[in-house]
Amino acid sequence: MAGGIGSRFWPMSTQKFPKQFQDILGTGRTMIQQTYDRISKVIPKEQIFVITNKEYVALSHQQLPEIPEENIVGEPLMKNTAACNLYMANKIAEINPDATMIVLPADHLILKEDIFLEKVELAFEVASKHDYLVTLGITPTRPDTGYGYIQFVEKKGSDYFKVKTFTEKPILEIAQSFLESGDFLWNAGIFIWNVKSIHNAFDLYLPEMMQHFMACEYNSEKENSCIETIYPKVQKISIDNGILEKAKNVYVIPSDLGWSDLGTWTSVYENTEKDKEGNAVKLKHLLSYNSKGNIIRLRNNNKAVIIDGLENYIVVDTDKALLICPRDNDQLIKDYVLDLKNFK
Ligand code: GDD
Ligand code: MG
Repeated sequence: MAGGIGSRFWPMSTQKFPKQFQDILGTGRTMIQQTYDRISKVIPKEQIFVITNKEYVALSHQQLPEIPEENIVGEPLMKNTAACNLYMANKIAEINPDATMIVLPADHLILKEDIFLEKVELAFEVASKHDYLVTLGITPTRPDTGYGYIQFVEKKGSDYFKVKTFTEKPILEIAQSFLESGDFLWNAGIFIWNVKSIHNAFDLYLPEMMQHFMACEYNSEKENSCIETIYPKVQKISIDNGILEKAKNVYVIPSDLGWSDLGTWTSVYENTEKDKEGNAVKLKHLLSYNSKGNIIRLRNNNKAVIIDGLENYIVVDTDKALLICPRDNDQLIKDYVLDLKNFK
């Protein structure tokens, strides 16, 4: 899934050039390329699909020339992740009605790749045998309100568990209580299911969306024009809100992946090298006085920067925009961007 605009990452991530197509951590590979590198170790490239907005089809193809061109699928409108999941499940079911598929966000950091591949193998085993919606779960480290929280039923000796409750993006007080209870995992947003299971779930919980998508013939000449016709009518909702919060057959595999959704500036701050004052700054000309815990990114690295008394701030400067905001407010950047649109 690579169709988001990453607005919490503004101004580095923009509608024209979203974060999944950028080398956020300076590793030499963009986020979507890293996702491909990881999963292509276990899935043949002919069976890897990218679902993104049609605006990013050319960019996806350019960054992933290994994937067959017809496997890069463009959506006419941004409808969030329920629609793109159903669209892909339909295309895959048309090729193989018994297929088990894995759904991966294109913007995650996974440090422990061996464990990831081991858990993926287990997830495929479970999802191909049962009518389960399987997700990978991460031990939470902070009351982050940007994630889904999963409570599961403990079962001794098992390495996957039935999900009791799934709460998408709770408010801070609730996230805090989930964290303190020690009973919850974060939803990694990586799903594994049989195409039949996900179809059943859409039938039950998003039947209208299912009806719309049933009207199209997949992998045929008529697919594109049919998709163009149905998309405006399709509900805009995430797979988490639309399906996972409601389904009774969700299972979780606790996974210690060295995982981070590079979704916010704080997550980048945590995953980049810092100087002795805890400033994540890779600048050629920086003078820093009494300043700590900041993340500073400039598109023009030749600019001289002086900071004095700056603590725990995000400063991001591009050709078009400058953002200065406390690190604690990084979830609000999405709202700032909306306000900016209204302001224009
Ligand atoms: N094709 C397509 N179309 N892709 C989309 C769309 C869309 O309309 N909207 C988002 N995506 C892609 C994003 O590019 C990203 O790779 C992935 O789908 C997930 O979307 P996000 O917008 O990043 O979701 P989130 O981070 O707020 O929440 C999800 O991930 C969290 C973990 O990272 C949820 O699954 C949470 O429960 C989870 O904790
Ligand atoms: Mg995300």
